[in-house]
Order: sequence, then structure tokens, then C-alpha cells
Amino acid sequence: MQFTRADFPKDFLFAAATSAYQIEGHSFGGAGRTHWDDFAATPGNVVHAEHGAIACDHYHRYTEDLDLMAAMGLDAYRFSTSWARVMPEGRGAANQEGLDFYDRLVDAMLERNLKPMATLYHWELPSALADLGGWRNPDLPKWFGEYTRVIMDRIGDRMFSVAPINEPWCVGWLSHFLGHHAPGLRDIRATAHAMHHVLCAHGRAVEVLRDLDVANVGAVCNFEYAHPATDSAADKEAAALYDGYYNRFFLGGLFKGAYPDNVMAGLEPHMPKGWQDDFALIGQKLDWLGLNYYTCKRVAATDGAWPAHEEVAGPLPKTQMGWEIYPEGLHHFLGWVDANYTKGLPLYVTENGMANPDQPDVPDAARIDYLNQHLAAARQAIADGVPLAGYTFWSLLDNYEWALGYEKRFGLIHVDFETLERTPKASYHALALALKA
Ligand code: FCB
Repeated sequence: MQFTRADFPKDFLFAAATSAYQIEGHSFGGAGRTHWDDFAATPGNVVHAEHGAIACDHYHRYTEDLDLMAAMGLDAYRFSTSWARVMPEGRGAANQEGLDFYDRLVDAMLERNLKPMATLYHWELPSALADLGGWRNPDLPKWFGEYTRVIMDRIGDRMFSVAPINEPWCVGWLSHFLGHHAPGLRDIRATAHAMHHVLCAHGRAVEVLRDLDVANVGAVCNFEYAHPATDSAADKEAAALYDGYYNRFFLGGLFKGAYPDNVMAGLEPHMPKGWQDDFALIGQKLDWLGLNYYTCKRVAATDGAWPAHEEVAGPLPKTQMGWEIYPEGLHHFLGWVDANYTKGLPLYVTENGMANPDQPDVPDAARIDYLNQHLAAARQAIADGVPLAGYTFWSLLDNYEWALGYEKRFGLIHVDFETLERTPKASYHALALALKA
């Protein structure tokens, strides 16, 4: 790598991230059914109709995975807890086996000096709540608060940090407008409701976490740099709208008590009743913000219904996802978020990494290069004065990449999905050297 620890501020944290449904093996330990199981069972939604029943079998192999993290020299582990593992019906009775699992997992992190950074919702909604309308239901925030209390009653005393929800854009827009993720809807009213309710659920969870005295409460949003496809006024407006509903909507709710005008021009007629009254709940004080960053998009105006735009291919080198490699975007967002929204609050890169068609015996030079470029962008932001406090690699392991199944490999560690054997990649070894230096 082109850095060592000494190039970052003292106490800067290096972490790796995963999420529950993507690695644990959801068929184990009494977990309830989730809308991802239902989505994957519906033809055409997921490559090869793959699902998370076994995934990386982290449920049984977590000590091996934590040993690998510790051996790499990481300081922290960003993991998520599964609502349906903790409460199989989403409400009511808790699954003791599930709570015991997270209890063991957290203790095993602490034994290895890995700081637990928890996320409470990384997308696997219990099917029983999906049956009630899922994120469209105005009671979802209340139920999410109940789940937050149950899981954090058990492990909240040992958290380094907690974020209620991973990437509200994906929960709202990607899943209810584009239909690419569970529940696979393409409905503007469902989208407006989900985008607002996901922020209310965040707020409700923050209230519960404060009530339980859980330390270091934040939020994790994802960001994509939106380039206009051409210099035309129409394309510039289209890119500004993409930037609005992707990058500015959730930050607006969390930090400004308002949603962007260009987004409300399309969504306002579809918003849930009384949405204007929820900003006190949504905008509670946070201790940090996490940014997930991967790529940029090129946006062109089209005819037709709002938002009347499309993505077009760009010229930069691409990852296995087809995502352009654009580290300048990470530098941009770190400075922009600090200047316009968080104003001095600690920031973390909570996800960054790339998919590559890795084989265990071929060095993943492309990933090393990608990480070097993005870590350089992070250092540049720190040099500019941005209070960046940590950097998290997505992902520890090759895993279930949602609608793209097991083919897209994001791991620092290769997983053979037949044998479940783990093999650290060249990027893992390179990072281990850099972190120990
Ligand atoms: C993020 C998700 C994560 C993974 C990466 C590639 O949007 O949080 O689960 O899918 O993208």
C-alpha cells in the first residue's frame, strides 16, 4: 500500500465492514423470514435466485473471521444485527438464540481488541412486517424502536458506536422506486413514504439509544457523485436532481430539518400526512456521521415522468460492478458534508471498496490500487482539515451481494462458496503490512 498508519492522525481507526444477511447464514439459529428471502424467491429479482440461507456461514465461523481481522491489524469491526434474527416476527417475542449469538460475537470482538461498530438495520426486514406494508407503514418507526431496545438492552453496554440504519437511500429509493432491492416496488407513493419513514425510524432509534445510555450514536448514508452527461442545462438540472434525492435528501432531514426543493417538486404530493412535523424526531443530535462511497454516475435528461432522467456510461475504468472508479468523489463528499451539514462532527468512511472477479491464487492488484487511490483522497481531506476519524473497508469477506448474488466479490478475503474456505487476498496482506508498520 502507499500508506502506513503514520500517515494518518493518531487514534485514526481502520475497520472492515460486513452485514448480517450478507454473511451470517440466515437459516441458522432460529432467525425469522425476511423480505430478502421473499424477494430472492421471486424469479428475475436476484442472479441465479441466490439468497442468504448459508451465505458465508459466519454464524458458525465467526471466531475464524474475527481472528483474521485481528491478524490484519484492524481496530474496529462494523457489523450489523438482523432484526429477524433478534425478533423473528419483527415484533413481540425475542429469539434468545439470536441474542446469545450477538452477545458472543461482541465479546469475541472485545477479546481481540476490535471495537464493535453496530448497525441495527442493513436491509433484511422481517417478512411479518413486510406483510403489514413494511417501510410504507407509519408504525414502522415504533416497531424499529422496540427492536432497538431489545438488541441494545443485550449488547449496548459494549458498543464503540451505533448507527440505526445503513444507507437510507437504498431502503427508500433503490427498493421502492427502482425496484432493485427488496421489496422490489416501483411506486412513487411507496418511495416517498419509505424515504420519510426510514428517517423517522432512525430518529426513534436514536431516542431509544439515548434512553439506554448507549455511547457514540451516528448515522450512515451513501453518496454518489452526479456528473451531468453533457454541459446542457437540462442535463445539469437532471444531475442536480440525482444529487438531491441521493446525496442531499437524507442529510437535509438529519441536519437541516428540510428536504431539498428539487426533490420535493416530485415527491411532495406523495408524502405521508403530517411529514412536516417529524423533523424534531429525525434531526436529533448525533455524535458522528458515516459515509459509504463507491462511485460516480453520469446523468442525462429524458422526456417523460419525473424524475425524467437516465444514467449513461462514463469513460473511467470500471470495477466488476460496472462502477466507475472516481476517488475525487470521496474527497469532494468529505469536505462538502463537513462544510454544509455536519460542521465539525467526526466523520467516518463506513464503506469503501470494489468488486473484482477474484481467484484465490491471483493477486487482486486492482483492489490494492482502488484502495490506495481512495485512501489518498481521504488523506487529502484530512489535510484540508476535515475531521475524518476512521476508514472502513467493504468488505471483510466475499459475500451475498444482494440482487447480484455471490458473483460480485468485494472481500479482502476470498470465500469459496462450496467449501466456505477463507483465503486472504493480496489486498488483505498489503493492508496488514501497512497497518502494522
Ligand atoms: C453498499 C451496501 C453493502 C454492499 C455494498 C457493495 O451499498 O451497504 O451492503 O452491498 O454497497
